[in-house]
Order: sequence, then structure tokens, then C-alpha cells
Amino acid sequence: MQRTGWKEAVVYQVYPVSFRDSDGDGLGDLAGITEKLDYLVELGVSVVWICPFFRSPWVDNGYDISDYRDIDPRFGSMADFGRLLSEMHRRGLKLLMDLVVNHCSDRHPWFTEARKSRDNPYRDYFLWRDPKPDGSPPNNWTSYFSGPAWTFDEATGQFYLHLFTKEMPDLNWENPALRREIHDILRFWLDKGVDGFRLDSMHAYGKAAGLPDGDPSEGPPVGIEHFSSLPRTHGYIREMHREVFSRYGILTVGETDGVTVEDALQYTAEASGEVNMVFQFQHMDLDAAGGNRLLADGPVPVRKLKACLSDWQRGLMNRGWNSLYLSNHDQPRQVSRFGDDGVYREVSAKMLATILHLQQGTPYVYQGEELGMTNRRIESLEEVRDVESLNAYRDLVGRGLVTPGRMLEAIRRRGRDNARTPMQWDGSVHAGFTSGTPWIGVNPNYRDINAEAQRKDPDSVFQYYRKLIALRRAHPVAVYGDFTELCADSGQVFAFVRRLEETALLVVANLAREPAVFDLPEGLRFRESALYIANYDCGDVPRSGVLRPYEAQAFRLEGVEG
Ligand code: NOJ
Repeated sequence: MQRTGWKEAVVYQVYPVSFRDSDGDGLGDLAGITEKLDYLVELGVSVVWICPFFRSPWVDNGYDISDYRDIDPRFGSMADFGRLLSEMHRRGLKLLMDLVVNHCSDRHPWFTEARKSRDNPYRDYFLWRDPKPDGSPPNNWTSYFSGPAWTFDEATGQFYLHLFTKEMPDLNWENPALRREIHDILRFWLDKGVDGFRLDSMHAYGKAAGLPDGDPSEGPPVGIEHFSSLPRTHGYIREMHREVFSRYGILTVGETDGVTVEDALQYTAEASGEVNMVFQFQHMDLDAAGGNRLLADGPVPVRKLKACLSDWQRGLMNRGWNSLYLSNHDQPRQVSRFGDDGVYREVSAKMLATILHLQQGTPYVYQGEELGMTNRRIESLEEVRDVESLNAYRDLVGRGLVTPGRMLEAIRRRGRDNARTPMQWDGSVHAGFTSGTPWIGVNPNYRDINAEAQRKDPDSVFQYYRKLIALRRAHPVAVYGDFTELCADSGQVFAFVRRLEETALLVVANLAREPAVFDLPEGLRFRESALYIANYDCGDVPRSGVLRPYEAQAFRLEGVEG
């Protein structure tokens, strides 16, 4: 397998509206990110993915873009962007931008033109269809954000397709003129010096010919089998690679909901000429009730999580490449979801980081994860900002399918706002995020959990992340080693060996709060060992024994035989 910088990188994800507000309007901004670059250098990451900051009416917090070539005024100006990029490059940080071209905003000039008349030149940039004879939508597809995926346009008498909200019409990738526009947008930013793109909803670019009805048991959303990772989508991506990516040598990450290991191989295999890595969702959806992400049943069963992570490790090993993540701006906080955000918050946050960063793939750190930030408990619907949660509430409670109490509980547990509360910089008012009024409530635990305190504390979650990131940089086995799972039958212990020639890493973790027994396999023979990292006191030699709550240990083994 080829060795490359992006495989060796650790990516930090910034959700800009919640990162740092430099001008007191309550909204994070680009100058705020620039202020905090030294913090990212201290942490040790080398790539920064910033979620969209383009001009946007803000229906889906910037994922609805009305001008792909301009900065939204809430984030600053093009000059602020230039400063941010040059300050990043000066520090050796690379910038990964968020490219959202499955859809745009309904206020984008392409769409305002398109809806003027059926023969407008931009009409075919979108997917328009006549109603069925009874006036209903052209097919039964539903949106990721509740309700039908079609909205009727009175003026022109046709429906348009939107896989997200009705303010986010899907672009018609079949149209070569549209694809050329997208290539030009990519070049516009690449010529400014950006280092790569995360391609939002990339799995959905191509839709099946004839837009056939979906099988409701495959959803939600209904219709997914007709728009997820179709052969034509691979074709569009290869074309983008040929026309743009390959000419700039950049990092590309495809967000690909619903992908299987096979799809991911097709997207990322070295010979495929598509993208460098994917974000897959299987481990994020293990608790989705009847396929509905918000209505999660309860904690993710450890056995299922282990099996899923291991399947992906084995499936892509040395052939494709994965993004490693347990949280982002669309998911609850990982320590609240997979660990314990009470007494074991610190050890469980460290354990989760250990198992994540020591798999094969590129690790992502979502802002605040490196502090062990937790979900924030909302008390009422008035506190909810996220369009996905609000639409689901309106739909499911409105139709009498879920009680208001259950729905609020679901949003508390799984809602996207959990990850979107402001970054906790210090113990001052609003956690040092803003001098104004934050757009979304700060988590009240910021006095105990904040960056300033953790930078000073050698045992903090932050210092543990620093160490993990530095170790990965120093030891190629953590990046390139292959993967063998141990004790696959255990309902608590996740253990694996990463091996590169005669060096190996042995990773052992207890994913639960109850103690668990680990048996060192007899067949594992090595000449010497050293502790790599651990979240409790621990010697240099791996042994069988009892693992404490959420304990994680990793050892470096030399002279490995067999
Ligand atoms: C995935 C993004 O991560 C999410 O935040 C957004 O709502 C959808 N794509 C639509 O762009």
C-alpha cells in the first residue's frame, strides 16, 4: 500500500458557527478560527476540515448554499478567508473545505432562474417532474429531513426533488453543463490554495433513470436504493477526479451514507481514481430504530459496535481507506453516546480515542471531542435549533406517531444540536466562545470542562489526545499496520493487533463500566514490549487480567513472530 501524507494525517473538524466568535455577534467566524490556530498546532493535527462558510440563507446551518464563490457575512469576508488560509499554511496546517453540491439553496440564482419557467436555461440544473394524474408527487421518495422529497411549484406546475429540506433542491448531475459549473467552483477554491474537499452527500449525486418508486422497507428515506452510490455516481466522481482532483493533487473525502464495504472499496481503492477516503455510516446507525436515526432505541450494543468496526477494518485493509470517527456535527457527543459522561467521563473519552486512533484509517477529531465535551440536556423544544430535529418533531408528533415526550427524549439523545453547542475554551462567561449572546446555549458544564484547564493538566483528555496524535506520527505501524481482531466473542472487550513487519501494536479496551477479563492469546509471541499509551496506570508488559471500567491499554511489541 502506498504511503501518503493524508493517510498519516489527523484531521480536526471545525463547525465554524460554534467554534470562536471574534466580533461579539454570538456567531463563530473565520477570524475566530484564525485566533485559535495555535491551539490546533498544540494539539498536533495537520488538516482542518471547516464546515460550510459560503453565503447561505441558513436553513440547514450553511449546508444550503446560495453562492459557492462568496463567504457568508456572518463568517466574515474573502479577506478574512485569505488571512485564515495563509495563517494555516504558515503553521503547516492544510485546509479541507466542505463542498455541498448534491443540492444548493432555493435562493441560489440557478434555482431562482430555473423556477421562472419550464424553458429557462437553468431549468435542467434541477430535477423537475409532472405531478401524477391525481396531483400527487411523481414518486414515493421521502426526504432525509421528514416528509416527501418533492415540493410542488405553483408557478410552473411541476414538482422539484429535494432529498433534504424543500429549501435545498437537488442538483441534476446528469446535466453536463451543471457538472462543468461544479468543476469550475472547485478550481476557483483550489486556485486560492485550499488543500482538499469533503464532498457532502456524495453518495446521492446520481439518481436512477426514470426515478422509480422506492421500496419503503429500504428507507427511511424511501427511495434510497435509487439514489445511493449508483454506478453513474461513480462515473461523475471519476470525471471530477480526471478533470480537477488529479490536476491539483488534493485530499478528497466523500460523505457516503448507506455505503457497504464493497461500495467504499470502489470509491477509495488506489486504482479507482475517485476519492481518497469515505465517511461511512454503519457504525453510526446501529441504534437506529426501524431505520429512523432520531428514534434510537438506547445504547449501542458493544458486540454490534465491535463487529461493525472490525468488518470495516478487515474489508478495507490495505486496499481502500476509511475516515475514522465517532462523532461530528450531525451526531451526539461520543463520550455521551459510547462512553460515560458521568464519573467515567475522562477515562471513557480516552478509551474511545485510543480505539479510534489506533485503527487503520485517518482519524478525525470533532471540535471539543479532545476535551471530552458532552451532550447538553435540552429542557424544551424552544431550545432546539436544528432543522432535522424540528422537522421530525413536526412530522412524527403532528401525525400522532410519537408522543411529544418521547420525541423530546429522542432529540436529547440523538439530536444534532448536542454537537453544536459552543466550543468550551475557558471558565469565563459563555465559555470564552463569545462576548455577546451565543446563537445556541452553551453547555453549563463549561466551568469543569474547558480547554484552558485541560491544557494545564497533564492527565487531561486534551493531553491524552496530544500524546495519541504525536505517537501516531512517530510510529508507522499505527497508520499502516494490518488489523487482526482478538476476543471477538467478548461482549465488552475490544482488542486487536496492528502489525507492520516485526512491529505490532496490541490494543486492548474495555468498552463498558463493569470490569472485564482479558486473556492474552497464547499464540502472540514477541521479543520485547513497551507501553504505548493507557488511560490508567499500567506496566510495560501486556498480560491477561481484569480491565477496569473503560480501561484502554496499547503496547508496542517488537520481534513479533508468526
Ligand atoms: C450532511 C451534512 O453533514 C449535514 O449537516 C447536512 O444537513 C446534510 N449533509 C445536507 O447537506
